[in-house]
Amino acid sequence: MIQPPVIQFERRPGILDLGWGHPRPGLLPVEEWAAAGAEAARTFGWQQLTYGHATGPAPLVDWLCAHLADGTRFAQTFVTGGASHALALVASLLAGPGDVILVDSPTYHLAFRILADTGATLRRMPGSPAELAGLVRTIGRRVPFLYLVPTFGNPTGRSLDDARRRELIEVARREGLLLVEDDTYRELVYEGTAPPSLWELSGGSGVVRLGSFAKTVAPGLRLGWVNAAPDLIGRLAGLGYVDSGGGVNHATAVTMASFGTSGVYDRHVARLRDAYRLQRDALVAAVRAHLPVEVPQGGWFLWVRLPGSFSGTRLLPPAEKAGVSFVPGTRFCVDDGDGDDHVRLSFSHLPPADLTEAATRLGQLIATLPGHE
Ligand SMILES: Cc1ncc(COP(=O)(O)O)c(C=O)c1O
Repeated sequence: MIQPPVIQFERRPGILDLGWGHPRPGLLPVEEWAAAGAEAARTFGWQQLTYGHATGPAPLVDWLCAHLADGTRFAQTFVTGGASHALALVASLLAGPGDVILVDSPTYHLAFRILADTGATLRRMPGSPAELAGLVRTIGRRVPFLYLVPTFGNPTGRSLDDARRRELIEVARREGLLLVEDDTYRELVYEGTAPPSLWELSGGSGVVRLGSFAKTVAPGLRLGWVNAAPDLIGRLAGLGYVDSGGGVNHATAVTMASFGTSGVYDRHVARLRDAYRLQRDALVAAVRAHLPVEVPQGGWFLWVRLPGSFSGTRLLPPAEKAGVSFVPGTRFCVDDGDGDDHVRLSFSHLPPADLTEAATRLGQLIATLPGHE
């Protein structure tokens, strides 16, 4: 029987798919969210269901600022429909045709599409601070901002170290370059603590931080936020569609306030960390039987260097025939052809046994193909 479509993910029979950066369905807090909705209805009554405050309901924003514990203030926060929406809004306010947006590479591939929607050109950010400064000075076009995911990045799982963070903030400040920090994976940390955000290190000046509840609660909420200087928050709040429609996704935002203030959020995220750590360890162990791999301290992804002269793009069709899928590394690179020696494997979506089986299928396939050394 053909089901009417409800969700984005499509299961392909016989394929264990390491391509999707989606949560494991069993880890979505279905009961807890329903309880938070009922509590929000009791607490806020009709106010949950009318037009919301332009920058987000105070009970959510107050809880969020306290939870972030990094000095973020109410006046620096605007609630959005997720990090994608946050990026689209910020980009539409700051960039346009003829501009050059600098992007880290490899980085979150779907951000490229959001940024390109502004009509701006995307260009890879240079590796060293001196080159970055040189590029901004000589490019001859407006550079509205630099986009990066410095903490548990997608696809690499890596984080910028402290010295590099401070250097980047310093160069950006000197060159008048705004940094747009996508901080989506901050809370999914499996060892120690996450590094301080660029937002925190900069004292909230020269940095816009994008946050999301997609990874920590559920992507279907379509709920996230922007942290920025109050003048940019004012511009977001003053958008015509906010004036017309009120605060973004208000009823969900109010429910999230109950989910947060009741302590359920903290318990849920602690559970997620334990579950995703186990999933990461299962995938790492199974990949390691065939290929070297770096262990990410947080996030959802392994960034795996293929052996010999393997190409991720060319490996995909035989891999799918062998019952495993992934995203080729080229998808995450802004320059054509870069990253083809890597693949991104997600450990978020499948339980440990399936992750082990998927990596075994991939490793065994690679061992049998020409190009393996
Ligand atoms: C780095 C990064 N930013 C943003 C998103 C999308 O977040 P949201 O669901 O909050 O729009 C993702 C999801 O994969 C991501 O990996």
